[in-house]
Amino acid sequence: MKPSVLFVCLGNICRSPLADAALREEARRLGMEVEVDSAGTGDWHVGRPPDARAVATAKRNGVDISHLRARLVTPEDFRRFDHILALDAQNLANLERMQPVDSKAELSLLLDHVEGREGEAVADPYYGRDEHFDATWSDVTAGAKALARKIAQAE
Ligand code: 4NP
Repeated sequence: MKPSVLFVCLGNICRSPLADAALREEARRLGMEVEVDSAGTGDWHVGRPPDARAVATAKRNGVDISHLRARLVTPEDFRRFDHILALDAQNLANLERMQPVDSKAELSLLLDHVEGREGEAVADPYYGRDEHFDATWSDVTAGAKALARKIAQAE
């Protein structure tokens, strides 16, 4: 079975779609098969494409995310995905509260997988400027690379 990974942030229009893009790109580079998706814990942007600044950032880094649409995390996600990665502590706490008893998913912070950055959040760029989205890309790429390495080792 393909390993499966879900990235979760608040709005599902900035950080988690970029994390999705970064892991897909890393998996493609490594020739690794992995199922990847993203979702949010807040419902303001459900059904909408990622923030235009996130789309532009992904595009600059060679990935098209314009087709993605924001959705909420569902109880089914905890049964479907092996790994659920929160982009910050608040989202991790919300996921821990939502986790059904029959969940098989391993919950963690994305940056917990990056040596020296354990416990750190990927900062929310929503109220920031373009350079904040570059920092988001850099963080989610570091997370995606570390995660891909761990998943490949566990296979
Ligand atoms: P995200 O960023 O959680 O990285 O998608 C946000 C997007 C929207 C809002 C907050 C964060 N909002 O409050 O609408």
